[in-house]
Amino acid sequence: MFSNVEEKLNSMRIVKAFSREQYEMERFEEINNKHFKFWRKSRIYHAFNVPLSEMLGVVTGVVVLMIGGIQVLDPNINFSFGNFIAFMLAIFSMQHPLKAITNAYAEIRKALVSVERISEILNRESEITESSSQIEMKTFEKSIEYKNVCFSYNGSEEVLTNINLTIKKGEKIALVGSSGSGKTTMVNLLERMYDTTSGAILIDNRNIKDIKLQDLRTLMGTVTQESILFSNTISNNIGYGALKELTQKEIIKAAKIAYADEFIDSLPEKYETPLYTRASNLSGGQKQRLCIARAIVGDPPILIFDEATSALDTEAELKVQKAIEQATKSRTVIVIAHRLSTILSSNKIIVLEKGKIVGMGKHEELLKSCERYEELYNLQFK
Ligand SMILES: Nc1ncnc2c1ncn2[C@@H]1O[C@H](COP(=O)(O)OP(=O)(O)OP(=O)(O)O)[C@@H](O)[C@H]1O
Ligand SMILES: [Mg+2]
Repeated sequence: MFSNVEEKLNSMRIVKAFSREQYEMERFEEINNKHFKFWRKSRIYHAFNVPLSEMLGVVTGVVVLMIGGIQVLDPNINFSFGNFIAFMLAIFSMQHPLKAITNAYAEIRKALVSVERISEILNRESEITESSSQIEMKTFEKSIEYKNVCFSYNGSEEVLTNINLTIKKGEKIALVGSSGSGKTTMVNLLERMYDTTSGAILIDNRNIKDIKLQDLRTLMGTVTQESILFSNTISNNIGYGALKELTQKEIIKAAKIAYADEFIDSLPEKYETPLYTRASNLSGGQKQRLCIARAIVGDPPILIFDEATSALDTEAELKVQKAIEQATKSRTVIVIAHRLSTILSSNKIIVLEKGKIVGMGKHEELLKSCERYEELYNLQFK
């Protein structure tokens, strides 16, 4: 049936991919149905809740009126009209708190479901393991080294191949390459978001796997490709960048370096202004400047900057550029560069292509020696 082995293997891969897709679809359908059934049940209960409780109120009223009325009118029972009114008021004033208890119970049930889902994420085991013998590292003195680093997300497809790179303290490195070439992956490995498949990354001649995770991450401030900000105050969003308590003075200092103070000061509640979900009450440039402030607030010696590709207008871009210049002063910097100005101001440019380093050097040198860089320059930066 199959003319050669490769054809057979290909058809097996297609069948495997198809059955995986089918499995995912079935799982999605199952969860969807389950969710729909719960939702329908909850709407039915909700729809019954109001008329039922109103009706119960009316029935209670009628029963109380009847029994009370009979007792008041019966001359053999010592139950005055005043007593009856007091009893009625007591019964009706109980109704409201009872309804509140029912509502609170429903809210508690809802919260319990959320707690279950949140704890599922919080209790998930990290893939990055930390042994008790890991060493402390509070300062960065000499260099960062990538030694024959290979990495794959899924165990089969290599995303980075034989990366060798040395970054000396104080250097500014620009990583360039087409989309999917492995730039973000390279910096993710340095922060130990993932562990290398083979090879090692060393900081001051120490394998990062031997350094305490908290110390390693305190050495670095990161601005990610997408601005991730929380629905909280501006002050808390900046302060979140340091793994320690910060004073308001330190937060303002970081905002000033990142050129964020000028727009924060014009907001009604300044540093206490709450951000909406996805910080939708800020512009793209303002979000980026907040993220820069957050990255430098703990004063880390290494700054990693994954420049956003989203287009900013010239004025916003200029401000972000100024913020980057200020923030990167006297730090070791790795920038995934999308702006020509960032590339020109760096000490060394690394050209990545399909997970491999295909060029390394200064702008003018690379333009002459690296074809891929010339292509990228003409396409992206010129
Ligand atoms: N979490 C992940 N799981 C599996 N594959 C991933 C994951 N993140 C990235 N990849 C894959 O790894 C390769 C490199 O991705 P990476 O994000 O490092 O590229 P990049 O150079 O930063 O691209 P861009 O300029 O678009 O940000 C891509 O082929 C991508 O599909
Ligand atoms: Mg990226």
